[in-house]
Amino acid sequence: MKIIITGSIGNIGKPLTKELVEKGHAVTVISSKAERQKDIEALGAKVAIGTMQDPDFLSATFKGADIVYLMETWEGIGSLFDKDVDFEAGMRQIGNNYKQAVEQSGVKRVVHLSSIGAHSAKGYGSLSVHYQVENILNQLPNDVSIKFMRPVGFFTNIFRSMQTIKAQAAVISNHGGDDKEPWVSPLDIASAIAEEMELPFAGRTIRYIASDEVSPNEIAKVLGEAIGNPDLKWLVIPDEQLLNGMLGAGINPQLANGLVEMQASQRSGLLYEDYYRNKPRLGKVKLADFAKDFAQVYHQ
Ligand SMILES: NC(=O)c1ccc[n+]([C@@H]2O[C@H](COP(=O)([O-])OP(=O)(O)OC[C@H]3O[C@@H](n4cnc5c(N)ncnc54)[C@H](OP(=O)(O)O)[C@@H]3O)[C@@H](O)[C@H]2O)c1
Repeated sequence: MKIIITGSIGNIGKPLTKELVEKGHAVTVISSKAERQKDIEALGAKVAIGTMQDPDFLSATFKGADIVYLMETWEGIGSLFDKDVDFEAGMRQIGNNYKQAVEQSGVKRVVHLSSIGAHSAKGYGSLSVHYQVENILNQLPNDVSIKFMRPVGFFTNIFRSMQTIKAQAAVISNHGGDDKEPWVSPLDIASAIAEEMELPFAGRTIRYIASDEVSPNEIAKVLGEAIGNPDLKWLVIPDEQLLNGMLGAGINPQLANGLVEMQASQRSGLLYEDYYRNKPRLGKVKLADFAKDFAQVYHQ
């Protein structure tokens, strides 16, 4: 099949492209950077250079495709340190660009990277934008089938705490503790997407994706052992302290508030209610596997 991949060769795009090419599909990868061409072609895929902000480019690239994989990213909307950027409006704009491009190109099968938290209009901070984008895509005509993929939090998010892990031997968040929660590896997301692309499409469907269920304290213990620092801790601080820290560092207030509210919903467990009602089979990548990758990056 002819398949278009957005999200370049990022965390999901790279393993997804590899798997689809191995399965014999004709894959075109969209990247915003011309210098990515060599690396994409080395995976056996074609390249289309352009952005998610350009609906005419998207329409032209989607033309003739059997399936398009659509993802949105905050990247490219503005600087995280610019307090005036409306990132949520930027994400909705990408959703509208995709809707327009799918309609104009005539593509009938869409796999959309959404997120846990997309089941509800509010209460989950930054994740509510995924509810809005799902709704935009749901306005496409009925003959367009859409598979909404809702991964839980990525293990790779923990790389963002590398600085405090190195300086203070701590992951610092407004949620933590011993309650297990689901985490996912982008490798399992890529496999789930590749699998869905080869299964029949019918109407609109939703699939949650998770790899392992572990608590924040277990994560700190396993990562601490992997990096040779058994004292690594997962420290919980109040919402207000985390928010003030981020605002003080100059982070965009919409993003800072969104993160704090999202993590508060992890802490209360509310975020996971719909996931547990529709619990998926867990993927192959476990915390112990991620810990090996984490240790490698930590020691680099
Ligand atoms: N983190 C989580 O816990 C979580 C949970 C649920 C869902 N999600 C979803 O997962 C997404 C991240 O997926 P990922 O990790 O595969 O992404 P990623 O590794 O961040 O890669 C995204 C790639 O998209 C390309 N890109 C950036 N801006 C662009 C633009 N304006 N136009 C065209 N291409 C652009 C960039 O590659 P080039 O430089 O080559 O253009 C970038 O590397 C999030 O945005 C969110 O929607 C995340």
